[in-house]
Amino acid sequence: MDSEEFRKNGYKLIDWITDYYQHIEEYPVKAQVKPGVIYQALPENAPENHEDFDAILADFDNTLLEGMTHWQSPSFFAYFNANTSFPSILGELLTSAIGAQCMIWETSPAAAELEEKVCEWMKKACGIPDAWDGVIQDTASTATLCALLMAREKHSNFMINKYGFLAGSKYIIYCSSEAHSSIEKGVKIAGFGSDQIRKIRVDSKFAMMPEVLNKQIVDDLNAGFVPLCVVSAIGTTGSHGIDTIHEISKICKRYAIFHHVDAAHAGNATILPEFQWMIDGLDAADSYVFNPHKWMFTNFDCSLFYTKDKQALIKTFDILPEYLKTDVDSKVNNYRDWGIQLGRRFRALKLWFVLRSYGLEGIRTKFRLHISLAQEFAARLRKDGRFELLAPVPLNLICFRYKPVGVESLDQLNELNKLLEQKINETGKAYITHTKLLGKYTLRMCIGQTNVEKRHVDAFWELLEAKISKL
Ligand SMILES: Cc1ncc(COP(=O)(O)O)c(C=O)c1O
Repeated sequence: MDSEEFRKNGYKLIDWITDYYQHIEEYPVKAQVKPGVIYQALPENAPENHEDFDAILADFDNTLLEGMTHWQSPSFFAYFNANTSFPSILGELLTSAIGAQCMIWETSPAAAELEEKVCEWMKKACGIPDAWDGVIQDTASTATLCALLMAREKHSNFMINKYGFLAGSKYIIYCSSEAHSSIEKGVKIAGFGSDQIRKIRVDSKFAMMPEVLNKQIVDDLNAGFVPLCVVSAIGTTGSHGIDTIHEISKICKRYAIFHHVDAAHAGNATILPEFQWMIDGLDAADSYVFNPHKWMFTNFDCSLFYTKDKQALIKTFDILPEYLKTDVDSKVNNYRDWGIQLGRRFRALKLWFVLRSYGLEGIRTKFRLHISLAQEFAARLRKDGRFELLAPVPLNLICFRYKPVGVESLDQLNELNKLLEQKINETGKAYITHTKLLGKYTLRMCIGQTNVEKRHVDAFWELLEAKISKL
């Protein structure tokens, strides 16, 4: 493809994207294909010779699109959103066009300095402690892994980095029973065993119980274990439980335990001053992550990771071969040492596009709409009488089940709600997912897609009613 063909095809693709968004509500939100169908439709071998862009795009339309779930549909209420927006798409396009490796300052000074700047902007906008430093990671999973490694190295005075795990290491990591699976995965990758994680009981709001945490730590100390790290959560995936950061920080301080806070989705809402209470006491913790790539209209991947001890983070990962040494190393941020991988994408660019294009106030306006739509929907469920809310609704995630009069058995209700979820999703008109809370099959509806409006939520209510009437 030469540059003039690129120009022509590029315009075509932008037209395709624009049409896609204009017609996105016509696609089934959840892909309706059966396993293996797309694979079978694809040729056995890669083409030996050039194929035209038009043919490639046509095949995308005719073969692949059917197998895509439309995460950017305003009726996508599943999981947590992985939002994008037009400014973000353009920022991402520019990132791929420039194609820079942003591993050290010298390989792209603007990338390093913009990353520093947007991390500072977000720190101020979201009430994150002033003295902390931020870096953009790919995902919250990676950020949490970095925090675990940092906790491990700080505690061992960087000796595990040097000698590996000494036999008999008895480190313990704590999180709530509602914490995200990425914590358990991080624990495994960081070299601990699954027996070294303690899942602390939650209260009726699905928040970690500090007194239970405290008791578990004391029991572990008495048994000769070494409490290393607590990962608390703001906005758990299953239930949007919000751990009490200041209480947990106090306990961590008492026993000199590293405290990492995972706010992957809900942390975005701290851009609203009225939700900054969720991170009260964060300054006493050690590190914090949230994902603009979930709610803040910024393409996956973009995860903001903050720490109060940047030197410890850098020392955890620091390896400096001759070929990466530069004359400015002592004066700049070389982000290769702030995380796991060497090569880094220019992720700050799309976030910068989003922040400038919406402005903080534009983002706040949309978030307030999403939260109010969720609150109204929850109120409707409460009032109706046929439903049960299974968790509080502090933000935009509603956990509920259908509970018709006369059906009391847990198994029956679980089956009924599983069927309801399936019936809703197979219409392609909306997409919800589920979890289990206290053994109850729970329908999860997250109202947070970039372009969701009241009419989409109203249409979901009608769909729910229609499906219930036929159960
Ligand atoms: C609370 C929480 N933490 C962590 C994660 C993992 O996020 P990522 O996909 O960025 O690793 C999720 C994903 O939904 C989450 O909900």
